[in-house]
Amino acid sequence: MDIIQIKNLTKQYDKLTAVDGISFDVKEGEIFGLLGPNGAGKTTTLMMLSTLLKPTSGFASVNGHDVVKQQGLVRNSIGMVFQDPSSDTLLSGYENLKLHALMYNLPLKEINSRIDKVLDLVDLQKRKHDVVKKYSGGMRRRLEIARGLLHSPKVFFLDEPTLGLDPQTRDHIWEYIQNLAKQTKMTIIVTTHYMEEAEKLCNRIAIIDHGKIAALDSPANLKRALGGDKVILKGRIDTETLKKFPFVKKAEVIEGAVHLSVEQAGKNLQELLCSAGDVENVEVHSPDLNDVFLNLTGRAMREEGEASSYIQDITRAT
Ligand SMILES: Nc1ncnc2c1ncn2[C@@H]1O[C@H](COP(=O)(O)OP(=O)(O)O)[C@@H](O)[C@H]1O
Ligand SMILES: [Mg+2]
Repeated sequence: MDIIQIKNLTKQYDKLTAVDGISFDVKEGEIFGLLGPNGAGKTTTLMMLSTLLKPTSGFASVNGHDVVKQQGLVRNSIGMVFQDPSSDTLLSGYENLKLHALMYNLPLKEINSRIDKVLDLVDLQKRKHDVVKKYSGGMRRRLEIARGLLHSPKVFFLDEPTLGLDPQTRDHIWEYIQNLAKQTKMTIIVTTHYMEEAEKLCNRIAIIDHGKIAALDSPANLKRALGGDKVILKGRIDTETLKKFPFVKKAEVIEGAVHLSVEQAGKNLQELLCSAGDVENVEVHSPDLNDVFLNLTGRAMREEGEASSYIQDITRAT
């Protein structure tokens, strides 16, 4: 049996359908990603799975328990790290954990040893008596991960675990999450709008947009389905001629640029460019999840300033 089962799950707010009839299953031990832009419905989905929000319709179960009818059993099965920090900044790390342990009714005799264990997992042992106010953003996130793990949940929900953290700290958080998966065999559900995060961490990804699942597979399969390297041409491009090359698998105009899927771009680029027309700019890269998203929705998901794999700018000399 799959540890999470979701069938036609829907959340309606007045006129807005935040989550629109999604269905998927998550296997035990998977790191599963919900990848989508802001407003896609990721947090709403997690809130329903964690019983904090009642679905408008549809069904979901976690660890075999219905999220509407068996809320207590679901809650005992899950740990959660919220998108917005929720630890108390005036308490120490240790005090935050102790408070949580008491709220969860953990056996008193076990509390200190459990706290030690989770502090070790996120490498915060040395700073446990500092007030959280003095923690960096990354340390605070680690503390909240530790807190979510205190009662040894079967399923762990992380809502945008590296939101707002710098790239180096992000890398560290990824390491902790990966180690966690290895050491505890927990099932982990991560939501993110960072493609790199989804790609690095997740065994499988559901791409979510406007409350609907647009695609679901492993990162490698999602990219493979695009059929080749991505070549983006700007200028006055002769798209019709390019479409005739056998190595051009797909050609479409998106936001004024011609996007091609090209088999073995390294080998075929020269020939392609000779027939492309008046090229002002060329970009070539192996497909990434942004291309997958673009292909599914016609929109880019990459944020300003997030680098593509490599850009080859051969602005033509005139
Ligand atoms: N309490 C609410 N009332 C009305 N609309 C909401 C509420 N919460 C979220 N939404 C809307 O639902 C959509 C999905 O939100 P959310 O699940 O937070 O997306 P994500 O986490 O993917 O950024 C958004 O359009 C958001 O504005
Ligand atoms: Mg969110």
